[in-house]
Amino acid sequence: MSSAHRRLARGAAASRAGASHLEVARGNARRHAARVATEFIHRWLPGARADLTLLLLHGTGGNEDDLVPLGEMLAPGAPVLSPRGPVLENGMPRFFRRLAEGVFDVPDLIARSGDLAAFVGEAAKRYGFGTSRVVAVGFSNGANVAASVMLLHPEVLAGAVLLRAMVPLSPTKRPDLSGRAALIASGRRDPIVPLRQPEELAALLREAGADVEVAWSDTGHELTPGDLQISRAWLEKHFPPTVR
Ligand code: MLT
Repeated sequence: MSSAHRRLARGAAASRAGASHLEVARGNARRHAARVATEFIHRWLPGARADLTLLLLHGTGGNEDDLVPLGEMLAPGAPVLSPRGPVLENGMPRFFRRLAEGVFDVPDLIARSGDLAAFVGEAAKRYGFGTSRVVAVGFSNGANVAASVMLLHPEVLAGAVLLRAMVPLSPTKRPDLSGRAALIASGRRDPIVPLRQPEELAALLREAGADVEVAWSDTGHELTPGDLQISRAWLEKHFPPTVR
């Protein structure tokens, strides 16, 4: 296993970045009056490609640095926006609260998905990337929030690589995801994601019109080199560089 994969697979990550190196942006979604505006600590890494921006979303206990090596391997030259999850669970960053493993705080998930959607919009203005070709690459908790953003804010993501994703919620209103695409990469021996959930998530996204591929590997929750190959091939197919 490469060092990049070891970094991706670990459960908890200590923050390695000094605050002076970080960019902080303020989400300005319309929020419930009681909610405090969310700030996303994040990395922005410019790239030569104008036709694709990767939104990297780490797993529980990760941070904005974790998936950067993966993003660089998946789509070389693509600019990268990589926020840190704003919720802390026993000191571990996440993108939304949960009540127990696999049991999500749905109102919080809905609100945080709105914050993340607004953050992407603000970052697009600030860094000057197009909003029509943003593709999320999310692992575990990051995959779950990416799927939630697709279901609740279908205009934000052109596609998503969902690594070890679950069904985050059932939207009350069916979104229009026509023209959008998702890859759900799942492990048959994943102790965290119930076996039926990747296909249930695929069905939800397909009903909304998305082009969805489910890739099963004989693995657990951790990422493997196979995930890299599958994800890279999927991105090449759905989001090929327009200028080589
Ligand atoms: C979640 O809470 O999003 C899932 O249980 C995955 C995880 O972070 O362990």
